[in-house]
Amino acid sequence: MSAIRSVVRGLGAYLPGRCLTNADLAQMVDTSDDWIVQRTGIRERHIAAEGEVTSDLALAAAKAALADAGLEPGDIDLIVLATSTPDNTFPATAVSVQAGLGITHGAAFDLQAVCSGFVYALATADNFLKSGQYRRCLVIGAETFSRILDWSDRTTCVLFGDGAGALVLEAVRDEADGRGVLTTHLRSDGRFKNKLFVDGGVSSTRSVGYLRMEGREVFRHAVGMITDVIVDAFEATGEDAETIDWFVPHQANRRIIDASAVKLGIAPEKVVITVDRHGNTSAASIPLALAAAHADGRIKRGDLVLLEAMGGGFTWGSALVRW
Ligand code: ACO
Repeated sequence: MSAIRSVVRGLGAYLPGRCLTNADLAQMVDTSDDWIVQRTGIRERHIAAEGEVTSDLALAAAKAALADAGLEPGDIDLIVLATSTPDNTFPATAVSVQAGLGITHGAAFDLQAVCSGFVYALATADNFLKSGQYRRCLVIGAETFSRILDWSDRTTCVLFGDGAGALVLEAVRDEADGRGVLTTHLRSDGRFKNKLFVDGGVSSTRSVGYLRMEGREVFRHAVGMITDVIVDAFEATGEDAETIDWFVPHQANRRIIDASAVKLGIAPEKVVITVDRHGNTSAASIPLALAAAHADGRIKRGDLVLLEAMGGGFTWGSALVRW
């Protein structure tokens, strides 16, 4: 029986037009460009326009990914959309994207693992494709975190931004040159659920709520969790810090990214950084970073790309992809 691999066919991204700089934020709360850059590496982030919802961002990214893949919407039979900021409580944001693309076959659903959402979605899609159940999947990370920020809380509002990214994955049998998703590793530990959460919800408060975070606690756990799950990926594949071409981490904080790369021995020139321009876009951050590095010619066919994320829950995960 020959094996099926989930191979990357295309990549797309979308950022809302409005750019909010650290200087803009300093007009809104007691903060400064210096403080934000020094603590996080963030210089600016994009904010969705009034009336622009998560599915709008996701749809734009999905269309860009399909164009990059040279495929039509009808070629897609599965949409897995990672978000913590859906348009509505239900239906899933993924079905709005499905309708927006004019797709009436297959399945579309949302998946929620906060900042680890894209890695969770990639792993989920990979398993559906490898099982032979679906043929081509849009894996999307899309967020409007600006809608769950308390804009008077300087400890959180400076960190996040809005955006979307999408990947087209295709089930390919016996791919000769070893391309595709090589391994994925997902973890969570609900003991930490109160370290980073939204203080509202359908069943608890009947309201949306605002993001709350114990920043130091998140920081304290992040590097260990990230590096552990990357070691799992290396052990599963025999690859290592030397053999990977690109490290595309979740873009939460420059200090977390740098410390993780140093601990793993990954050379700085292999690390893709977009947190300076995008802020933390949660589930969208990895596909946005992938799209940036693909567009400028860094990530090329055949490259070995390491992805990782960590976020609320806590959830964390890694993936190794031969591009
Ligand atoms: N501007 C100016 N001062 C600020 C700001 C701000 N935006 N925010 C907090 N401060 C102040 C605090 O009030 C505090 O003042 P005090 O000493 O007078 O009480 C001081 O700065 C230090 O605050 P800390 O919270 O200790 O600052 P720290 O150095 O830990 O940096 C940060 C805060 C950036 C949030 C850091 O803890 C961090 O990066 N944590 C990781 C959190 C993260 O990345 N979350 C993203 C979601 S999770 C994920 O995606 C991995």
